[in-house]
Amino acid sequence: MKNVRLLIGVFVIAMVSYSCSNDNEVKPDADQIAFDAADGAIGARLYDHVLNQVGVTDTKMTSKPNFFRCKSCHGWDLLGQKGVLIDKQSSDSYPVAFSGSLMEVRQNDGIREIFDAIKNTSGRSTTSGIYDNNMPAFGEILTDDQIWDLVKFIKETAHDVNDFYQLTTTGTYPTGSKEFSDIGRGGDPVAGLATFKAVCAGCHGQNGNKINIYCKGEYLGNMFREDPHEMQHKALWGMPNDEEHIAVGCTDAGMMPIQSITDQDIRNMMVAGQDTVQFPGYK
Ligand code: HEC
Ligand code: HEC
Repeated sequence: MKNVRLLIGVFVIAMVSYSCSNDNEVKPDADQIAFDAADGAIGARLYDHVLNQVGVTDTKMTSKPNFFRCKSCHGWDLLGQKGVLIDKQSSDSYPVAFSGSLMEVRQNDGIREIFDAIKNTSGRSTTSGIYDNNMPAFGEILTDDQIWDLVKFIKETAHDVNDFYQLTTTGTYPTGSKEFSDIGRGGDPVAGLATFKAVCAGCHGQNGNKINIYCKGEYLGNMFREDPHEMQHKALWGMPNDEEHIAVGCTDAGMMPIQSITDQDIRNMMVAGQDTVQFPGYK
């Protein structure tokens, strides 16, 4: 009898440990695998300009790019109406900004939720020729892998812009106003100038005035001082080929590759970029 009990005991322990070890077995989670394999720097370029990054040529989309660019509705800072877009009026070429914050989405939502929000199966048709504030059905133009790159960007790669400058806003969207201060957050301008000369000057010139950005009368000096929200993004992740400005004959327009620099390098350059002699503004 004792032996039987012992046997049952051993059997029960064996069953329990078997089922436990089975639970502990790492189940391949397809979502997590896709997320881990994704590239947040590619996600950053998609976030900037989906159409140019994937090479969309359908004029139903390319004629109104801002209605498809994530940054146009969500902001370079991911903060929507409460961030840098606070003073951005909508028009027939620019959508109304999203009222929520993707920085909160980053905190609160899982990767599958964010993936589904971007794929947006029931969203605005990309080929309808309708341009409104509803988010497009990006699953129509992006592969799942590209959507995962965007999930990675939002969840992990994107900067918290507070690490680069202080934004002070007054009023409310779209008639509010904004002011940047502490640009570069105490970075080292000497180191910043050295990085600029080593990494950026080859294309942008020693004084940042070789490329007239978009041919709209803007040198890097202007951007360092007036557009730090865009600088924190583009200095690192560059930008896909600038199809719309090339199409209208801007010979300065082009593609900027992803750069191998650190966030501290960006802060250092931002401080260096406040010097209007070294980095003149466009006249
Ligand atoms: C034309 C404006 C517009 C564009 C362009 C746009 N969105 Fe959105 N986005 C919205 C709106 C509005 C919502 C709120 C949900 C809805 O109505 O679909 C939203 C919701 C989201 C959400 C979920 C937010 C939440 O609170 O749960 C994510 C994530 C998101 N967008 C990411 C992106 C990405 C990535 C891109 C570019 C590939 C993009 N969006 C482009 C307008 C836009
Ligand atoms: C291989 C050449 C190249 C290098 C290196 C390079 N850029 Fe650029 N950059 C470009 C081109 C081309 C553009 C796009 C201009 C256009 O389309 O009007 C650009 C655009 C930009 C823009 C503005 C984009 C906009 O949309 O307003 C910023 C900001 C910028 N570069 C910063 C930098 C910084 C900072 C560095 C160094 C870390 C750097 N770039 C290195 C070629 C380069």
